[in-house]
Amino acid sequence: MALVGCGSAVPAISVSNQQLSERVDTSDEWIRTRTGIGARRICSADEPLTALASRAAQAALEHAGWAAEDLDLILMATSSPDDLFGTAPRVQGAIGARHAVAFDLTAACSGFLFALITAGQYLRSGAMRRALVIGADQLSRWVDWDDRTTCVLFGDGAAAVAVEACPDAQNGLLGFRMHSDGSRNGCLTLAQTDTHTDVLGGVSAQVGGFAPLRMNGQEVYKFAVREVPAVLKELLESTGTPASDLNWLLLHQANQRILDAVADRFAIPHERVLSNLASYGNTSAATIPLMLDEAVKDGRVQPGDLIASSGFGAGLSWGGALLRWAGPQR
Ligand code: ACO
Repeated sequence: MALVGCGSAVPAISVSNQQLSERVDTSDEWIRTRTGIGARRICSADEPLTALASRAAQAALEHAGWAAEDLDLILMATSSPDDLFGTAPRVQGAIGARHAVAFDLTAACSGFLFALITAGQYLRSGAMRRALVIGADQLSRWVDWDDRTTCVLFGDGAAAVAVEACPDAQNGLLGFRMHSDGSRNGCLTLAQTDTHTDVLGGVSAQVGGFAPLRMNGQEVYKFAVREVPAVLKELLESTGTPASDLNWLLLHQANQRILDAVADRFAIPHERVLSNLASYGNTSAATIPLMLDEAVKDGRVQPGDLIASSGFGAGLSWGGALLRWAGPQR
């Protein structure tokens, strides 16, 4: 699988830490020093997730030099769909990718990496030739805006990466690892509420609806600084890659302290650690492709660059992938 294009879209509305401190008891100083976050984007009513994801998809297609009809697969990682039956088909319809099968994949902040790896298997098997992997989330609709321990962390965004089948010599997915631990699911949830309605005498049915996002921040922090270095170590050892060979560390953007701690474990200089937390906060499934797109478009990530990536979050779930960026093949 070769990574040949990327694109992203973020909502126009930006909310600073200072603005948030008018709503909850927090401060710019607390949020910046604990997380590195300075602002986050929030979707407006007239640009929900489908619109954002479609814009990101179009941008990735243009970057790759592909037409929408070229696509065989659209895999959309999201935990905040516009439609629980699937948002990917809406994106497929919006961009006119009429030959592509389109479906969602839910794995919270690990979602993009899991989707990229999944798409890689279809391409590698020869079943499909061209795919668009989208990471898109609108967690602003599920955050409790009165809970200062979570609402300051998250933002909305969408980004996509165009991937295609290629000869082994050009393979850009050099290794991967994926893990889940459902026994720790309660650390981070966006769960169905327990409301019922009477259908008939003696028969009641659950009423659909989800409670706001709840997180045990300290447990998730400890999990991340333990498991992310471990999965990256597994990945580097299994591919025989010294950390000094890496051009970039591209981690899920949850907290600058997590990025720094992981980099320090591998003695990776901080200037090789990609971070855009200050502008966007944690956009869940979107963070990794959003960061990649920014670094490709500003010229930091160059064709041939070796990237160690890791996603982690609710599930609990985590994974790593060793990637080589190819860029547009024109
Ligand atoms: N502003 C001011 N004070 C705050 C805020 C806030 N926004 N939030 C919490 N506090 C207070 C707490 O109430 C607590 O006060 P107390 O000591 O009087 O009780 C104090 O600050 C310290 O709180 P902690 O929770 O110990 O703060 P910590 O240093 O652990 O930082 C944070 C919290 C930033 C959430 C951190 O734990 C973290 O980043 N965890 C990881 C989150 C993460 O990575 N999520 C990724 C997965 S997301 C996904 O999958 C969808």
